Amino acid sequence: MDIRIFKNEAEIGKAAGQLFCDAVKENPSCVLGLATGATPVPTYNYMVEEYKAGNVSFKDITTFNLDEYCDLPKEHKNSYYSFMFENLFSKIDVNADNVNFLDGNTDDPEAESARYAEAIASKGGIDVQLLGIGRNGHIGFNEPDAELERFTHLVELTPDTIEANSRFFASEAEVPKHALTMGIHSVFKARKILLLASGKNKAAAINALVKSNITTACPATLLCLHPDVTVICDEDAYSLV
Ligand code: F6R
Repeated sequence: MDIRIFKNEAEIGKAAGQLFCDAVKENPSCVLGLATGATPVPTYNYMVEEYKAGNVSFKDITTFNLDEYCDLPKEHKNSYYSFMFENLFSKIDVNADNVNFLDGNTDDPEAESARYAEAIASKGGIDVQLLGIGRNGHIGFNEPDAELERFTHLVELTPDTIEANSRFFASEAEVPKHALTMGIHSVFKARKILLLASGKNKAAAINALVKSNITTACPATLLCLHPDVTVICDEDAYSLV
């Protein structure tokens, strides 16, 4: 695991954004796995700046988002679909036909899981997968548990995740209680994984990721089994290591 520590989240955004831009310049039709939440926003901002400066074009990339809330219309301002268009897709030249999301409103999660896996495979797999990390060590919405699911599945969000995500909603009661998420094996098929973490509230999770035994009680610890993981975090997130 390659761990890089930066001063603050703006520097994380520059480092991670540059890594994505370099991947796209090297392979203009590459396949990116993307995440939502507060952490990747500076990265997406940097990608937008580079696009506007004429340094990179995203017109041939394909993207797959990692997860999506259930029971939230895709047009809702807090759906991950809306998040991606607001923070990235509407500001760059990505082809809207090539951005892919899980359908959080499906009534058949198993069929949706199979559809997504096939769509990813038909594009040759994910080249670079972006991940955040939950305060409880979740990746995607693979929450700490005695067992972790391999493939894309329906998950009941933990109280900790619901509380953490309530900052984006008017009240905690409005946060969806379920989501569809890519499973651990689906994530691990990516050729390269880039995990970002900023802020003191991620320090315990980063400490566990770097130092603890591998345990499903902290799903991020499994990342040390993947051959190509880069962790980019700030000093606060690294402060307990
Ligand atoms: C989002 C996702 C989650 C977040 C994590 C951290 O697509 O899969 O695992 O990455 O909850 O969220 P933030 O960045 O808001 O702290």
